[in-house]
Amino acid sequence: MKKERTVSNHSADLKSGKDYSKYFIPPDLKEAKKRGKEEIQVVQFGDIEGELKTLGKGKTFLMRTYGCQANEHDSETIAGLLGSMGFTPTEEEREADVILFNTCAIREGAEDKVFGEIGRLKHLKKEKPELVLGVCGCMSQEEAVVNRILKSYPHVDLIFGTHNIHRLPVLMRDAFFNKEMVVEVWSKEGDVVENMPKVRQNGLRAWVNIMYGCDKFCTYCIVPYTRGKERSRRPEDVTAEVRDLARQGYKEIFLLGQNVNAYGKDFTDLEYGFGDLMDELRKIDVPRIRFTTSHPRDFDDHLIEVLAKKGNLVEHIHLPVQSGSTEVLKKMARKYTRERYLELVRKIKEAIPDVVLTTDIIVGFPGETEEQFQDTLSLVEEVGFDSAYTFIYSPRHGTPAADMEDNVSEQEKKDRLQRLMEVVNRLGREKNEALRDQVVEVLVEGESKNNPDVLSGRTRTNKLVNFRAPKDCIGKLIHVKINEPLTWTLNGEVVEKVEV
Ligand code: 5AD
Ligand code: SF4
Repeated sequence: MKKERTVSNHSADLKSGKDYSKYFIPPDLKEAKKRGKEEIQVVQFGDIEGELKTLGKGKTFLMRTYGCQANEHDSETIAGLLGSMGFTPTEEEREADVILFNTCAIREGAEDKVFGEIGRLKHLKKEKPELVLGVCGCMSQEEAVVNRILKSYPHVDLIFGTHNIHRLPVLMRDAFFNKEMVVEVWSKEGDVVENMPKVRQNGLRAWVNIMYGCDKFCTYCIVPYTRGKERSRRPEDVTAEVRDLARQGYKEIFLLGQNVNAYGKDFTDLEYGFGDLMDELRKIDVPRIRFTTSHPRDFDDHLIEVLAKKGNLVEHIHLPVQSGSTEVLKKMARKYTRERYLELVRKIKEAIPDVVLTTDIIVGFPGETEEQFQDTLSLVEEVGFDSAYTFIYSPRHGTPAADMEDNVSEQEKKDRLQRLMEVVNRLGREKNEALRDQVVEVLVEGESKNNPDVLSGRTRTNKLVNFRAPKDCIGKLIHVKINEPLTWTLNGEVVEKVEV
């Protein structure tokens, strides 16, 4: 059994006179690449006490979040920590005492956006020098990014990494009182920190981390460097959190991990995998449980067997393929072939005939030939994805693919993306068309973004449905008949107002 201890809590830091953040700790790519053998410790977050508890009294914070659900959920934790310090949220830039950017490093475009925003705030910082401007998330884990901020964006006050979130109270204090930029980015992953406060942004759907980090090291991907090694939360901690959320009335639990199928592989005292966890969670009284994101390599038969039991385990699997060419998959170090992926899909469909499969695809990987791209198109057709996130390959500094020779022109890459999207959209339309006149279960989320007279919600397969219904349906599960399927959404009418 793991040793339990309490995270060196912030008031203890103060009492002992220890002040880690006096040290300037920038990220270190070499360190981030390492995968140590040390056992992961579960650490309990201690209460925020003393001066830190009131530091934010009368002050406001604004947070901008970029990237994936893991980041969105980290922002909920950051909001929880700031809330525990007395800060209140605001959406008004000019009012905010703290502005934080929780950033994404997955592609260059995501990074450019953040640099643009930080640059734009230079004026505000000049007008209001007491404003604390902070950068966290995946970009802060990159050496090149931190160097660029130090050199060209000196108006930033605070940079902290993805492994330093629990240190925010102390770091925020230092950012308020220090003249120098406070930088604390641990490159070696920390422990699994439990019980941090959270302010969830959605009252119906709750994100729950089941594991952190990734050890797959796909050659194009920066995530294993920015999020550290795979660390699973203990099953009892995950189930306790899900049970608690169910009691609070959440209708949908969204399990998160960079590679959920590797869940439990890091346990040294326990033979327990993702299939076992799902089998346990399906017994909890909550209408829907979904997860993201899966790696095909670790997707085992036991998991398929458990998912086929359905109940609250929804029939939607996001299964990133990245490419349909075995040669490209090899260069990406995905550790499966086209044939193995298709075999996995066959097994899943056999066990769960109404499963909806979605995917991620990268086009224009270094050296990708037209023929290899055609393999991707044919795989997409063969699987029949309901939708796909499609990307042009973006070189990430420090990853192996960034040093591979690339003879595919930008224009060609754009052209391939366009052709891929046409196929993906056509398939999506066809899949949705098959739902015409079908009755689907919808979890009603609220008013539609475009029309307040219309409500919208999601099916078990995560498709967006718009329909007219009384507002008291919000938060409920209802039955909707689809009468107008579109490419990305479905329009329908309520056939039953009763909760299912
Ligand atoms: N360039 C383009 N797309 C990428 N992804 C990850 N790294 C890169 C990159 N360097 C995509 C993958 C992954 C999704 C989250 O982002 O498709 O599944
Ligand atoms: Fe990146 Fe591959 Fe890990 Fe996914 S599995 S986070 S693509 S390295």
